[in-house]
Amino acid sequence: MELNSAGFQLITDRLIIRPMTMADEADLFEYQSLPEVVKYIPWPARTLEQVHEALAKSIAESKFDNEGDYGLLGIELASSKKIVGQLALMYRSAENQTAEFGYVLNPKYSGHGYATEACKALLTYIFETGKFNRIFAHLDARNTASENLVKRLGMRKEAHIEEEEFFKGEWCDAIIYGILKREWLP
Ligand SMILES: CC(C)(COP(=O)(O)OP(=O)(O)OC[C@H]1O[C@@H](n2cnc3c(N)ncnc32)[C@H](O)[C@@H]1OP(=O)(O)O)[C@@H](O)C(=O)NCCC(=O)NCCS
Repeated sequence: MELNSAGFQLITDRLIIRPMTMADEADLFEYQSLPEVVKYIPWPARTLEQVHEALAKSIAESKFDNEGDYGLLGIELASSKKIVGQLALMYRSAENQTAEFGYVLNPKYSGHGYATEACKALLTYIFETGKFNRIFAHLDARNTASENLVKRLGMRKEAHIEEEEFFKGEWCDAIIYGILKREWLP
């Protein structure tokens, strides 16, 4: 799937989900630099230089064709053309047709349903490729905003793993939410 091609996009009522470009750097810095945004995700609050490096790496490496691939997409607000967040897709298993996804939203744009709208479009896209039977999200158990999002999407809680990870200086529980193709697609 050509996630890197300039032509790739998913259009929703208010959003355009599209590959990032280096021109998006300032929009990304606006939220990737905030400690509260990265509290439950595995990178530090980024400097502008770190945003630049991470963005260049993900543009170069973003793909979603084979097991092990990782793709990054921007969430653009159609009305302003601004990137207000990002989606990550991870191709976890070809044999078991499993993908994982993740999401980050600029907190200035929280509370409007943008993350929900973007994730709905992403799940539909992933299932409609015909290559996946199950999609899951892996969350820090303390991340209630994220858990509320996967619940809004209608995903099922599949697991609660005690002290799964020693993360940012402490033992943290993880929760897994999943959904099957037959549950998502009509
Ligand atoms: C997780 C995260 C994306 C959730 O963001 P969010 O703004 O709560 O989610 P949405 O954009 O879907 O907005 C939902 C909120 O908008 C409200 N809303 C308004 N209009 C809406 C609409 N049309 N559709 C759905 N919800 C709508 C909902 O009621 C909800 O409000 P509530 O939280 O007061 O109940 C955000 O908290 C985040 O980026 N966190 C930091 C990064 C992170 O931890 N990512 C997850 C890693 S697993």
